[in-house]
Amino acid sequence: ESYDMGGHDTYMHKEIHEQADAVDRALRGRIDDRFSTVHLGGLNLDARDARAVRRVKILGCGTSYHAGQIGAQMIEELARIPADAEPASEFRYRNPVVDPDTLYIAVSQSGETYDVLAAVQELKRKGARVLGLVNVVGSAIARETDGGIYVHAGPEVCVVSTKCFTNMVVSFGLLALHLGRTRDLSVADGKRIIEGLRKLPGQIEEILANEAQIEELAKEYAEAKSMMFIGRVRGYPVAREASLKLKEVSYIHAEAYPASELKHGPLALIEPAMPTVAIVPDDELLEKNRAALEEIKARSGRILAVAHQVQEKADHTIVVPKNEDELDAILMGIPLQLFAYYTAKAMGRDIDKPRNLAKSVTVE
Ligand code: AGP
Repeated sequence: ESYDMGGHDTYMHKEIHEQADAVDRALRGRIDDRFSTVHLGGLNLDARDARAVRRVKILGCGTSYHAGQIGAQMIEELARIPADAEPASEFRYRNPVVDPDTLYIAVSQSGETYDVLAAVQELKRKGARVLGLVNVVGSAIARETDGGIYVHAGPEVCVVSTKCFTNMVVSFGLLALHLGRTRDLSVADGKRIIEGLRKLPGQIEEILANEAQIEELAKEYAEAKSMMFIGRVRGYPVAREASLKLKEVSYIHAEAYPASELKHGPLALIEPAMPTVAIVPDDELLEKNRAALEEIKARSGRILAVAHQVQEKADHTIVVPKNEDELDAILMGIPLQLFAYYTAKAMGRDIDKPRNLAKSVTVE
């Protein structure tokens, strides 16, 4: 992509609209239909190394950390390797136990975030194997890691990350598939995931074609002082990322909680002035998620659902196309990027350069 605005009013809007092409680029040349797997050239991890991995630990900050949370779930689901994500900024300060059988993955758009780089250096010093999942080619984190995956999102100018988040999550999908196929993921499941990945660019176009509805909803919800974002398992990191997007660009206070935790405290906040954005995928947790919507409705809370079908209990639903259960999280956050953008626009915010923030945090 060039730095040309191409008719968009902000880089954020432009970059949201570049996502179908960006995902296409992340997939290009990597899919191996013959063996229902993917080739990730720079990984430096042969099948024997991949099979020896006992745990995966993903480190990143902000949006990249959220992408890592989704990535960890994909790796657990598809490769059945225990995996989790942690903010790199926390990890490096807690004298972590570094285990030789754990595969560490540093996630970063810029490849220059100081906290992530410092975590990588500490891990290397302790003899760990560290991979990078990075956007900027040749960046410090890409150079310091033992191998990795470039996410190929193209240049991202807006301080608020959108297309890079999506490409990170897609890249984690590729990695999870690759690891899974060196283990117990069947040919049939590999094929199913590949078909799901191939559908993504077209489905992203479908979501973006619904922009007018999202613009209207954003205008309506822009009056809120505070918003709750909820999701369960696959939907929870989506809720966290969507709440961060809204905070960063509109300055509206937002909280993200697992839907399952509502009754343990945050339900006390629910009232008409505190709308909830709920991530409601059509997966095995659909009924549980519907029950959470009922609890909110019973407290007169307004609900905006992002779902695969219209949710009766919600005041509004943004319907997104269904993919494979394991890949749904890639798509469900995209309408909420537009929601954050239009909310900020309605409030007259400086969308590409929100106050107090820098694109890349290269200091401690
Ligand atoms: C994203 O919208 C943020 N501005 C921020 O959280 C960002 O993701 C974080 O600072 C990490 O940056 P990186 O991906 O370049 O390492």
